[in-house]
Amino acid sequence: MANRSSTLRIGVVGYGHLGQYLVERIIKDGAGLGLTLAFAWNRNPHKLKGLVPDHLILEDLSAFKTRVCEVIVEVCHPQIVKDFGVQFLSHAHFLVSFAPLLVGLSGNESISIFLAC
Ligand SMILES: NC(=O)c1ccc[n+]([C@@H]2O[C@H](COP(=O)([O-])OP(=O)(O)OC[C@H]3O[C@@H](n4cnc5c(N)ncnc54)[C@H](OP(=O)(O)O)[C@@H]3O)[C@@H](O)[C@H]2O)c1
Repeated sequence: MANRSSTLRIGVVGYGHLGQYLVERIIKDGAGLGLTLAFAWNRNPHKLKGLVPDHLILEDLSAFKTRVCEVIVEVCHPQIVKDFGVQFLSHAHFLVSFAPLLVGLSGNESISIFLAC
């Protein structure tokens, strides 16, 4: 898990309605809330262009460990949780948008998960 910094660094995985809202709020108001955007990822990266600073766009999700990040928020699709959830939990706290997926996790893996519903 990444070292703690003065602000909580958030990685947003998905840039649909929820992802866009989260990214915009963190960029606009995050400083006052103690939040910083660590990265934003979307399956279609073109949706991020021009709306998210280039240096905050993560092109390859499997490279998420290159970004200092305390919390990763999934707001896209259950398949991403299945493919990356355990890896995310080895690096950061993990917040998922689709609570029934937690049934598929077990033991300590579920301890660091915060529910988004
Ligand atoms: N909106 C709500 O009020 C709400 C409430 C609770 C939970 N949720 C859950 O939160 C998640 C996002 O909701 P949303 O309203 O933001 O959805 P949305 O506006 O429809 O956006 C869908 C997002 O999921 C991505 N996506 C779809 N299929 C994917 C796949 N197979 N692999 C990777 N990414 C995929 C899309 O990427 P592309 O842009 O590349 O297509 C897009 O970023 C959903 O799972 C939804 O069930 C939503």
